[in-house]
This record gives sequence, C-alpha cells and structure tokens, in this order.
Amino acid sequence: MNVFRTFALFCIALLVSQARASSEALSEEEEDTEENNSIRERERLKAEADAEQRREYPEMYGDAEQGDMIIPKEELEELKRLAKVGGHGKYRTSIFNSAYFSYGGTYGYGWIYYGLGRIPYYVTPDFKQRTAAEGNGSHTPYEIFMDAIAYIKNEVACVDFFPFEGATTPYYVLVDYGASCQAEIGCRMKSGQKLDLGPYCTFKRGTVLHEIMHVLGFYHEHTRQDRDSEVTVHLENVETSPNDRRSNFDVVSTDFVDHSPVYDCGSVMHYTHNAYSTDKFSLDTITGKTTACRNVMGQRVDFSPIDKATLAAKYGPPCPA
Ligand SMILES: *[C@@H]1O[C@H](CO)[C@@H](O)[C@H](O)[C@H]1NC(C)=O
Ligand SMILES: *[C@@H]1O[C@H](CO)[C@@H](O)[C@H](O)[C@H]1NC(C)=O
Ligand SMILES: [Zn+2]
Repeated sequence: MNVFRTFALFCIALLVSQARASSEALSEEEEDTEENNSIRERERLKAEADAEQRREYPEMYGDAEQGDMIIPKEELEELKRLAKVGGHGKYRTSIFNSAYFSYGGTYGYGWIYYGLGRIPYYVTPDFKQRTAAEGNGSHTPYEIFMDAIAYIKNEVACVDFFPFEGATTPYYVLVDYGASCQAEIGCRMKSGQKLDLGPYCTFKRGTVLHEIMHVLGFYHEHTRQDRDSEVTVHLENVETSPNDRRSNFDVVSTDFVDHSPVYDCGSVMHYTHNAYSTDKFSLDTITGKTTACRNVMGQRVDFSPIDKATLAAKYGPPCPA
C-alpha cells in the first residue's frame, strides 16, 4: 500500500513537472516569437519611413551638398567658418550685389545686377520630352516647370523668368532632367548654371519651388545662425553611415546668405522633422519649439507667406529698372 501510494505520487509529480516544463518551453517560444515579431515590425516601419522620406523629399538624396545645393566646397566652408568667427568673407552670390561690393568683393553679383530680377533660362530638349509619368502623373516636368515660373511671376511681381535666346544675356539657367533635384545657388555668372529636376522632383510643386529658391539665392532654412531660437537639432539622431549627414546641419553665416527677417519653420526651404534620422519612424533630428512650428515644418506644398514676402522684399516691387 505504502509502496503503491509512493509510486502513484511519484507518477503524478512527474506528470506535473513535465507539463510545467513543456508549458514553460511553449511560453518561452511564444515570447521569443512575439519579441521577434515586434523587432521585425519595427524594422518594417523604419524602412517604410525611410522610403517615404526619399519619395517625399527627393532633393535630400542627390549627390550635391546637403543633397541638392551645387556650390563650391570652399565657398560653403567659408560661409560656415564665418558663422563661427563673424566678419566679412569673400563670397556673396545671391540676390543683391550692393552689400557684397561694399565689402570689397570681386566675385558674385546677383540676378538683379544682370537680369534686373529677370532670369534667363534654357530648357534642354531632353527635359521637354519627359513624360507625365516622369512628372506628377497628369503633367510633364516641362509643363510643371512652366507652371511654376508663371506662378512665381504672378505671386512675386518682379521675379520673372524669360527664355534665353542667345546673346541677349551672358548668363542663363539650364533646366534639365538630370539624375536628381539640384541647383546652383544664386546667380553664378555662368552660361548654363544648373537646375536639374529629375525623378520625383516635379511630383510636388513645393519641390520645384524649393529648387527655384536655391536659384534665387536661398539656402536651407535650418542652417540659419538663429535657428536655435526656434528649433532644436538632435545631431545624435543623424545618420553617420553609409553617409555622414551631420554636416548638413551646420549653420552658415547669415550675413552672406539671403534670408527672411524672421526664422520660418513653414518655409519651403526648411528640412523636415526627421531629416536623415537613423530611425525616421521614431527619432526626430529637428524639433520645433512651438506646435505652430512643428505643424508646418518640412512642407512642400507651396511658398510660405514669409517666403513670398521675402522674395517680394528682395526683388520688388518696385521692380528694378
Ligand atoms: C528570434 O530571434 C533570435 C535571435 O535573433 C533567434 O535566435 C530565434 O531563433 C528567433 N526565434 C524565432 C521564433 O524566430
Ligand atoms: C500636376 O501639375 C500641374 C501643373 O503644376 C497641376 O496643374 C496639376 O494639378 C498637378 N497634378 C497632380 C495630380 O498633382
Ligand atoms: Zn535644397
């Protein structure tokens, strides 16, 4: 009896322990899968946010400085250096020449000096032949560009693009499809200074206006020296590989760059909140200090009211004679 009872108890204990072990093993496995699923889900969301940024902001992903600014390296470095040490440098290539000349410079005139606010452009045959599928689906890149310059003329009375017909002006903007969205900054005194509107670049009017603002002399809004009053830059969240993007957040000397009187989070020239983030799904690289700032940052719909006012203040009316 005793032996039988002991044996029975032993069997029960064995069964219970086996059951417990197998249920523990099961829950461990379940947990494992759950954790792996959440890791996988997170990677998926990150990859999606990354793809979205490349689609929505094609101008950030070209090979030029900060993605889309064609500017000699030494010139950009000089503008960054001046932001640190102050004083006058040797470059000014944007809208006005007067301030520049008063500093005794010899390089850089501005559109007003040559084109009187009227900017000659030449569109390549290749750009003209691009299809609506390469534009925004319903219109070709050429139609969208023409629409954008008509819009600018309408909104900013004195900024007027006109077709280069040879020999009328020494300098002109060469509009091409190219591999990305990029532009030479300001008036470069060149026959054929670049304005490329390649894949995805004409998908949104704001992207086209952004590139044209570069041609008109503007830099990226978040690189203004006074940016820390309106936004916080989180360099620790910026990608360092495969490309180190941290220098895209360096400030440039505002004395030598055309800009609006106040920092403008809603400018079509402002980077988006998660620009070049290592985790675009959950980590920001630029945070607006106010809700108003956060709500408009990175828009590529249209000029902001301040963008328009700044262009009007710099180019007129009254239009230069
Ligand atoms: C979960 O991931 C770990 C390590 O990444 C791996 O060893 C394990 O086999 C995975 N489990 C499942 C259920 O996929
Ligand atoms: C495409 O661009 C044209 C010209 O700017 C505009 O009129 C049209 O509404 C745009 N279409 C779409 C689908 O965005
Ligand atoms: Zn840009």
